[in-house]
Amino acid sequence: MIVLWRVTTRCNLSCAFCAFDRRLPYARTAADPVAIRRVLDVLADYQLTHRDPVLVSWLGGEPLLLTELPELAAHATGRGLHISATTNGTSLGSSVVRRHLLDHYSELTISLDSPDEAHDAIRCSPGLFKSLRVHVAALVKERLASSRPLKLRVNTVLLRSTIERFPELAREVADWGAEELTFNLLGGRDRPEYFPDNRPLPAQVSRFTEQISDLRAEFASRGLVIAGGESYLNRLMSAVHDIHRPVPDCGPGRRFLFIDEMGFVSPCSFTSGTLGLPVTELRSADDVASLSTRFSLARCARRPVVCDDCPSTQVFDKFSHHAA
Ligand SMILES: C[S@@+](CC[C@H](N)C(=O)[O-])C[C@H]1O[C@@H](n2cnc3c(N)ncnc32)[C@H](O)[C@@H]1O
Repeated sequence: MIVLWRVTTRCNLSCAFCAFDRRLPYARTAADPVAIRRVLDVLADYQLTHRDPVLVSWLGGEPLLLTELPELAAHATGRGLHISATTNGTSLGSSVVRRHLLDHYSELTISLDSPDEAHDAIRCSPGLFKSLRVHVAALVKERLASSRPLKLRVNTVLLRSTIERFPELAREVADWGAEELTFNLLGGRDRPEYFPDNRPLPAQVSRFTEQISDLRAEFASRGLVIAGGESYLNRLMSAVHDIHRPVPDCGPGRRFLFIDEMGFVSPCSFTSGTLGLPVTELRSADDVASLSTRFSLARCARRPVVCDDCPSTQVFDKFSHHAA
């Protein structure tokens, strides 16, 4: 079971494609650390009694800004859970943060949108690319010295200005020593004003999908997996042609859960409002196990409109690996 947990909507960067851009004038919220700790305990009980390994993956905003997160991650690993996070990497300059990640995390996903300073322009953060390069190198060196099993993944957003530079990006990521590269096609729900001029063109996405097997083979020999199953590539092609992809049944709550900063648990981030249940209803391991039945019934009774064009990347095999 993978539990994606948006612990804060606060962010320190200004990415024009993102819903959590710090320039957006809305009140930011963070999850209640006491509630997080309690649900972590329930998830640990679920993992033990249902023999289903649980990976808790922190999201944001920028999750590593939450001051209570190190204590919560240590608590989670103490209870046998695995921990992951997706970060913009701005806190990786701290040796204390790197040590904590090495000691407690199984995975870390770092966002990188371009293999050079164009990343800084996209994220409105001068010097970010160079600092990531230096600080990820430090993390990889410390990982080697400590023999810690932290898996490093880079996630990139494919934009019209960056998609053709994906092979260069893969080279950069392989040089960093990351094990996996994943990609999102720019989505337009969060920032509709940015989308029309920055979404990749159909011909660019076609070329991207044609080249990807060769790239996979090239980078597999360098220890870098470029993830994404066949259905994910098909999803990219339909999205770029504005073809809707309804999902009749994603098995809601069976393999993935999403918890938002307000304390609602749902099958994915797009169904918090329609199918979300308060995490206060998760009091035992069996409550976690019964979520899939509850979500299936609720989804039949009132199918979320969003399921008629499912934007949830995990439903389409974003993370699956191919034999090169
Ligand atoms: C919302 S961010 C939160 C984590 C962290 N602040 C970061 O930058 O990695 C999670 C991931 O979603 C990606 N993302 C944000 N907005 C997106 C959009 N409109 N389309 C596709 N991916 C997006 C980010 O690049 C990042 O890899």
